[in-house]
Amino acid sequence: MSNMPKSWEVTRLAGALGAEIQGPDISDPSDADIEAIKALLNEHLVVFLPNQDPTVDAHIAFGRHFGPLEGHPNLGSNSDMPPEIFELRASKGGVADEWHTDLTFQEQPALMSILHMVNCPENGGDTIWTSLYAAYEGLSEPMQSLCDGLTALHDALPHNHPEQMTIHPVVRLHPATGRKVLYVNEHFTRRIVEMNATESDALLTYLTKWVTNPQFTIRYNWQPGTIGIWDNRCTQHFVLNDFIGERVIQRVTVVGDQVEAAEPAKWQPYIRDGRLSATSRHDRQLYMYLKSQGLMESEL
Ligand SMILES: [Fe+2]
Repeated sequence: MSNMPKSWEVTRLAGALGAEIQGPDISDPSDADIEAIKALLNEHLVVFLPNQDPTVDAHIAFGRHFGPLEGHPNLGSNSDMPPEIFELRASKGGVADEWHTDLTFQEQPALMSILHMVNCPENGGDTIWTSLYAAYEGLSEPMQSLCDGLTALHDALPHNHPEQMTIHPVVRLHPATGRKVLYVNEHFTRRIVEMNATESDALLTYLTKWVTNPQFTIRYNWQPGTIGIWDNRCTQHFVLNDFIGERVIQRVTVVGDQVEAAEPAKWQPYIRDGRLSATSRHDRQLYMYLKSQGLMESEL
C-alpha cells in the first residue's frame, strides 16, 4: 500500500482476509494514520494491532475518527463505562458463539467495530472472521444470480426482541470497494422474503453454512492489549466458546450506513393465496413485517 507510514509493517494472516499491523499508536493517530488504517481495512477486512492497550477515553477518541459511535441497542454493558463502550465479560454470559454480522436487524447496521481485548485466557477464546466477498465469489453463477435478486428478513430474536426487524438484500454492494457481499447470517437472518418458508429454510441453511467454509476465514489468537478492527459490511465473526476463565472485551461501534442492493429485488414478496391453515404460521412474521411497512393489505 503506497500511502502507509514507512515504519509500519503489515503481515497477511490468511488467504481470504486478515492482517496484523505493527507500528501505529492508536492513542495519538495522525490523519494520515487514520487514512492508512481505512485503506488497510478495505484491503484486509479485519486488521489487528497488537500492544496498544488504550485507555477507555483513547479507545473512544480513536473510534470517532471513523464516524459517530453507538452503544449496543439491546445488550447491557458495564454501567461504569461511558455509553460508547460496549463491554462484554464471558463470566456474565457474553460469548458470541454463533456466526453473525453485528446488528443486521437494524436498517443501518454498524459500519465497523473496534475491539480492545482487555483480558483473555492463555488458551482458547479465539475469534474467527469470514470474508463475505469470498463467500459470494465462491458461489456458482446460477446461485449468484438467484441470490442477487433476493431480499431477507433479519430480526433481533437472539436478543429477545423479535419485533426489531428489517429487510436487507441478500447480496449488498460495499460502498467503498464496489464489490458484492453475501449478506445473510445464521444469528439474525430469519427468512428469504420472496420464497415460501421451506424454500427459505433450505436456502438459508445452505448459505449460512457456506459462508463458514474454512477457506473464507481467518482465526485469530488474542493477546491482552490487542486492538481488532473489522469491517462489519463484508464480514461475519464467531467467538470460540472453548476457554476456561475470564475474557473481557471492550468495543466501540461506528454507526452504519444504508445497505445498497447489488440489484433490485427480482420478485415480489411471497404471499400465499387461499385459506388459512396449520402452515400459515410459518409466514406470520414476514406478513406482520410487510404489513407494518404498508407493503401488503390482506390479513393472515
Ligand atoms: Fe459480534
